Amino acid sequence: MNILILGSGGREHALAWAVMQNPKCDKLIVAPGNAGIGQIAECASFDIMNGAAVVNFAEENAIDFVIVGPEAPLAVGVSDQLRDAGITVFGPSEAAARLEASKSFTKEICDAAQAPTAGYAHFTDHAAAKAYVEEQGAPIVIKADGLAAGKGVIVAMDMDTALAALDDMFGGEFGAAGAEVVIEEFMEGEEASFFVLCDGEDALPIGTAQDHKRVGEGDTGPNTGGMGAYSPAPVLSDAIAEKTMAEIVYPTLKEMARRGTPYQGVLYVGLMIKDGQPRLVEYNVRFGDPECQVLMMRLGAQALDLMQAAAEGRLAGCSVNWADDHAMTVVMAACGYPGAYEKGSVIKGLENCPEDSFHMVFHAGTTEQDGQIVATGGRVLNVTARGASLQEARDRVYAMVDRIDWADGFCRRDIGWRAL
Ligand code: AMP
Ligand code: GLY
Repeated sequence: MNILILGSGGREHALAWAVMQNPKCDKLIVAPGNAGIGQIAECASFDIMNGAAVVNFAEENAIDFVIVGPEAPLAVGVSDQLRDAGITVFGPSEAAARLEASKSFTKEICDAAQAPTAGYAHFTDHAAAKAYVEEQGAPIVIKADGLAAGKGVIVAMDMDTALAALDDMFGGEFGAAGAEVVIEEFMEGEEASFFVLCDGEDALPIGTAQDHKRVGEGDTGPNTGGMGAYSPAPVLSDAIAEKTMAEIVYPTLKEMARRGTPYQGVLYVGLMIKDGQPRLVEYNVRFGDPECQVLMMRLGAQALDLMQAAAEGRLAGCSVNWADDHAMTVVMAACGYPGAYEKGSVIKGLENCPEDSFHMVFHAGTTEQDGQIVATGGRVLNVTARGASLQEARDRVYAMVDRIDWADGFCRRDIGWRAL
């Protein structure tokens, strides 16, 4: 089977690494890829936001199966164009991708599905939104409706912050994403992520994870795209997973199918858990990054079979072959991230890190220049390991971190501290 993966981050490197281990994979191309991906697969360069260009490339290269990594191509209908061209694709349609692309849409689906989530109201008018916030009081959560690269959510612990967030959003800080605003009840509890493959009708849980969003140790400092993650998430017990499937995931799939827009792909279910009750924080329509890295480390080659079964509507007979293991990933970022940082510094010592089914350094933002690996992003490497316990996975990860020689990078030394 010839496979094409769209994307260029650590998530796509992890997907590529898992797919390559499956003997079904004859050829793998990743577009655009990065330096790490280039060491295990072919990289190609074309506009992955342009559905016609993706179809064209897939046809020219006899691609049988496309895996879409990031949300942006899904939100503009790239998977629809591939399906229309008769190419099997893992990833939801543009209509189903609204579960991530529009927060008010997700709330509407939750209402129809009676899925537990935060109470909310939806506004397009600044004055009305302000009146509502003043009436509800803080803490309160203000969200730009559309895709805002993870920056459109303000958890306001006081009224000044809430009103300033409204000023920013209605003032155009998030562009079109902020022209509509969802205001939510603040939920307390512990957050965890639940990943479920969906084929439009059936669903198969493929793992749980927790990530660390703050840049600083002890979960302090500014928010980031994620500084590390581990799987499984202890808070997401089997009982809570079952409750989530019964109360949130299946009712959502049923409502999406009823509307004629069945959901196919991976559903990233962001949960807030309190007193044994899960409530939905958000859906994403793709794997989390860096959560995907720990999920792939645990699933290995079977990930390809399962994604293909989801894409072909065959999940009903599928199950996951679980090992009783744990995985952790630590993000190495460029100094300054999530603020301003320098690009172009050279990373050394990667050749001293083991690469096997227990250890892998996934690349998130790198390129190759004159035979050297150079940092090109904020989050640059995802040092990932698996072990019989979370402690063992952690020890393996930090032993690798210590072999990497990159003066312009940093990482958190406390990933997994809550679970450990
Ligand atoms: P989202 O992009 O919707 O996942 O929001 C980003 C982060 O904001 C989440 O991971 C939560 O930590 C937090 N958050 C979002 N909505 C709520 C809520 N209603 N109550 C408490 N925290 C929230
Ligand atoms: N790690 C959070 C996300 O991928 O959205």
